[in-house]
Amino acid sequence: MTAPKKLFVKTYGCQMNVYDSERMAEALGSEGYEQVGSAEEADMILLNTCHIREKAAEKVYSELGRFRPLREANPDLKIGVAGCVAQAEGEEIMRRQPLVDLVVGPQTYHRLPAMARAVEAGEKALDTDFPEEDKFLHLPKARKPKRGPTAFLTVQEGCDKFCAFCVVPYTRGAEVSRPVDRLIREARELVERGVREITLLGQNVNAYHGEGPDGEWGLARLIWELAEIDGLDRIRFTTSHPNDMEDALIEAHGTCDKLMPYLHLPVQSGSDKILKAMNRKHTAEKYVQLIERIRAARPDLLLSGDFIVGFPGETEEDFQATLDLVKTVSYGQAYSFKYSARPGTPAAEKPMVDEAVANDRLQRLQALLSTQQKAAQDAMVGREVSVLFEKTGRLDGQLVGKSDYLHAVHVVAPKTLLGEIAKVRIVESGPNSLKGELI
Ligand code: SAH
Ligand code: SF4
Ligand code: F3S
Repeated sequence: MTAPKKLFVKTYGCQMNVYDSERMAEALGSEGYEQVGSAEEADMILLNTCHIREKAAEKVYSELGRFRPLREANPDLKIGVAGCVAQAEGEEIMRRQPLVDLVVGPQTYHRLPAMARAVEAGEKALDTDFPEEDKFLHLPKARKPKRGPTAFLTVQEGCDKFCAFCVVPYTRGAEVSRPVDRLIREARELVERGVREITLLGQNVNAYHGEGPDGEWGLARLIWELAEIDGLDRIRFTTSHPNDMEDALIEAHGTCDKLMPYLHLPVQSGSDKILKAMNRKHTAEKYVQLIERIRAARPDLLLSGDFIVGFPGETEEDFQATLDLVKTVSYGQAYSFKYSARPGTPAAEKPMVDEAVANDRLQRLQALLSTQQKAAQDAMVGREVSVLFEKTGRLDGQLVGKSDYLHAVHVVAPKTLLGEIAKVRIVESGPNSLKGELI
């Protein structure tokens, strides 16, 4: 037998890329590649990239440049770019960085084994098609090692919303849902391998409308079906769009025990003028009312969101409306970004807000959000939560896991609890995590 070739995959961007990286590594496993932890040891380096903001894309090029000495030391080293930068820039990547041998878009990973053979033969390989078939179905069957207690499962991909700032509809293509039976099968396999918590993924996950045994199923129905799987204890989903928050899904948050009390529901802005310019197709008031309905179903739900400041045309008054919305809603967790013009998107044609103004707004918004985040975390002290232990902590005898509300919790606990769920009382709230005691 020949020695396994070594593959190093580095993942940027969203959780869907994390899921895809696992699938790509499995696909290359069938070509004799074994995953390693560093670029220095690798025969093939694959960067799974993100194009969402300018900085994310530029990172890829600076990272690629750093591989030059590795190539000089090992002329057989193959370098590939996958993901959303690959889709958006295609051949341009090879022009700009001749070190690159392979460019593969997010919808053609199942063709990777053949592409790997081509680059091993000294060719360059590029594939950024949007094929009709389900790439996940056509991936080679993986070897099935034991794995950690949490996993991602992509149920839906792509987006038809075309928010004016966003590259996703161009890099990931049109919205497609995977059929129910395949998802149930994949979930069962994950549970057999030790998974206790599954996060359902999609750029627009709550727009899920997959083919079921009796017609189309929405996300709520899929969640109820997954909840029937013994050994699967926790279900989450991300990311959702406010306009796709169907009643059955809101209700499930109140009635499905396995659905965790955490929801990521981005609003982007609190100004109706900006929401309209962003093509978000809802008002601030509609969003606030939606949150009220969700909280009526599940009062202790921890809400998370995304915000963009400095979108073209945003005035101080518009920004104040965002701060007001944040105060009204109150987030337990949030991500905020300065607007980044993305080539090819409608908003990129519009004049930018002054950089210093945008920076200042970002700081003010982040200060407010982090106060709310800390308050939500502090409010956990004294409460009983359930924790799924994922790994050992830095201190001796400590394990770290996630609470139902997705807070990281440090607990002194025996190693036998790794991969298990236990009741924990929260005793302390630190800067970024909680401390708890086994009950
Ligand atoms: N599908 C998800 C989000 C995908 S991108 C949704 O619709 O909510 C993740 C986040 O990145 C977005 O919610 C948005 O806040 C941010 N984002 C996307 N494009 C951006 C851009 N051009 N500039 C700054 N932030 C952006
Ligand atoms: Fe991008 Fe909007 Fe689609 Fe989210 S809903 S992926 S922000 S276009
Ligand atoms: Fe980035 Fe593509 Fe995800 S642009 S956020 S990796 S869908």
